[in-house]
Amino acid sequence: MALDILVLYGSYRSHRMGIRLADYLIGGFEALGHRAELVDAKAVDLPMLDLRHSDYPPGQAPGAMAKLAQRLSAADAFVFVAGEYNRGLQPGLKNLVDHYLTEFDRRPAGIASYSAGRFAGVNSHAAWTVTLNAMGMVVIPERLSVGQIGDTLDEAATPQGPAGAALERGFKAFAESLTFWAEAAKARR
Ligand SMILES: Cc1cc2nc3c(=O)[nH]c(=O)nc-3n(C[C@H](O)[C@H](O)[C@H](O)COP(=O)(O)O)c2cc1C
Repeated sequence: MALDILVLYGSYRSHRMGIRLADYLIGGFEALGHRAELVDAKAVDLPMLDLRHSDYPPGQAPGAMAKLAQRLSAADAFVFVAGEYNRGLQPGLKNLVDHYLTEFDRRPAGIASYSAGRFAGVNSHAAWTVTLNAMGMVVIPERLSVGQIGDTLDEAATPQGPAGAALERGFKAFAESLTFWAEAAKARR
């Protein structure tokens, strides 16, 4: 079954590296026959949270916020590309996510964390697991953890060396689990 998968990423930095992992994941899911699309918090650029989407009267939310609400609601599964700042979440993606709630409900989510160093964003993985569960998503146990992101994926998001090969192996199990739960949740919804 072809699924509709959104890959969410939220660094606002000029020379951001996590976009490589987002691109890799989109390519990977497309190669499996799914529709995969990037939700780039920097491009959507919602304001710092004031009113959530659901706080607006019907039809009065700002255009970009309303458009994203529809897009999230239509998705079968989410992948969160989780960078780590000071052992916590990246604020750009957290700000985007906080604008919504029901749009994420009853769908599986996978977390792909990364960092410049050896620890692969494990703290942000843990933090996102708590947050996504609280918002009604079921977080799959398989995780992608990419250390030394700049060496593991080149600018074209092509895996490099032994760490790149490990990413490719991990992606298979990650994708198999996410699509299993996405199909199950879709059938039940
Ligand atoms: C403000 C800031 C805080 C950071 N804190 C951490 C950290 O706690 N743990 C870590 O592994 N890397 C940390 N890093 C390094 C990031 O892993 C690295 O810069 C990564 O490329 C950030 O993602 P981005 O390029 O997509 O913005 C930090 C980087 C910045 C800019």
